[in-house]
Amino acid sequence: MSAEIKNLSDLPNYEYGLKKIFSEAEDFLPLLGTDYVELYVGNAKQSAHFYKTAFGFQSEAYAGLETGMKDRVSYVLKQDKIRLVLTTPLNEGGLINEHINLHGDGVKVVALWVEDATKAFEETVRRGAKPYMEPTKETDEHGEVIRSGIYTYGETVHIFVERKNYHGIFLPGYKAWNSHYNPAPVGLKFIDHMVGNVGWNEMNTWVEFYAKVMGFAQIVSFDDKDISTEYTALMSKVMSNGNGRIKFPINEPAEGKKKSQIEEYLDFYKGPGVQHIAVATDNIIETVSAMRQRGVEFLYVPETYYDDLLERVGAIDEDVETLKQHGVLIDRDDEGYLLQLFTKPVVDRPTLFFEIIQRKGAQSFGKGNFKALFEAIEREQENRGTL
Ligand code: FE2
Repeated sequence: MSAEIKNLSDLPNYEYGLKKIFSEAEDFLPLLGTDYVELYVGNAKQSAHFYKTAFGFQSEAYAGLETGMKDRVSYVLKQDKIRLVLTTPLNEGGLINEHINLHGDGVKVVALWVEDATKAFEETVRRGAKPYMEPTKETDEHGEVIRSGIYTYGETVHIFVERKNYHGIFLPGYKAWNSHYNPAPVGLKFIDHMVGNVGWNEMNTWVEFYAKVMGFAQIVSFDDKDISTEYTALMSKVMSNGNGRIKFPINEPAEGKKKSQIEEYLDFYKGPGVQHIAVATDNIIETVSAMRQRGVEFLYVPETYYDDLLERVGAIDEDVETLKQHGVLIDRDDEGYLLQLFTKPVVDRPTLFFEIIQRKGAQSFGKGNFKALFEAIEREQENRGTL
């Protein structure tokens, strides 16, 4: 199924997260959810400290010299359903070092939780996916995990994780990470969507990849008329899997007066990669104020954004002054509204950032905020001298 659907509500049988975009029988790649997101970073120990302190992630698992891992360390952090893995090599050379050297700290693996990792590999490779990892069984005293993997855009990969016969903390080779330093969570619940930036004229190639190779359907598209400011422009299409649990918007740069923020990303990441990870909360005000207190920097939205807010989005439960105070953005669609806010890049290069999102019915992605948001990003680009 790859026909374009403009609105989720156009789908006769669509109900977010429960009913299916298309029936299970048609879905050759049933996905249970995001399993983990692995970043290759220059210093996993210090990154882990940052994600605990600033983002409220909890110490979950560890692999390294002490667990028999000779060539790398990995820290696993958890907050509700979100699992981050931070990996750094222990020696010179090798693929992980090359990845860090080329891209800086960034997302290498978007792992997807499946019933059958062997079938997921066979079905996707048969449809044209480039293999990354043949189905591999890992075992320890807690059972077995089967993982397989395929490449997506750039050097990013999807790993399929089958863990129905495993009862350990994370994966074989990991031990529980018991730390005396455990800052409280900030209310991050699950990954709502993850966005990929791809090169000029490559958006449709990757939209087709997700449709044909992974059986996703396109649910939304924006073109440069929707998403442009005086200077920057981009195009975006959103791909969703059958049960709506996995959503991957794909962006490509578009021609503007000055450099698109997507182009800036591509220049610094040296190619396509994950641009942002959107995480859901039930209370964006509490989450954002906790994160800000702990040192997370968010994009600044001009106060004028709030002047005509209620005319634009209609009645909302929240107090506009409070939203303004926290710089939270609001957008409405046919089904409800959403509140969102974007961090500044969380790494040294202007590449990866996070989005905090609270949905109140709306299943869209905040198109109405793009202009205000991009103007905010442009001010940041101006500061970096990369506009
Ligand atoms: Fe987003």
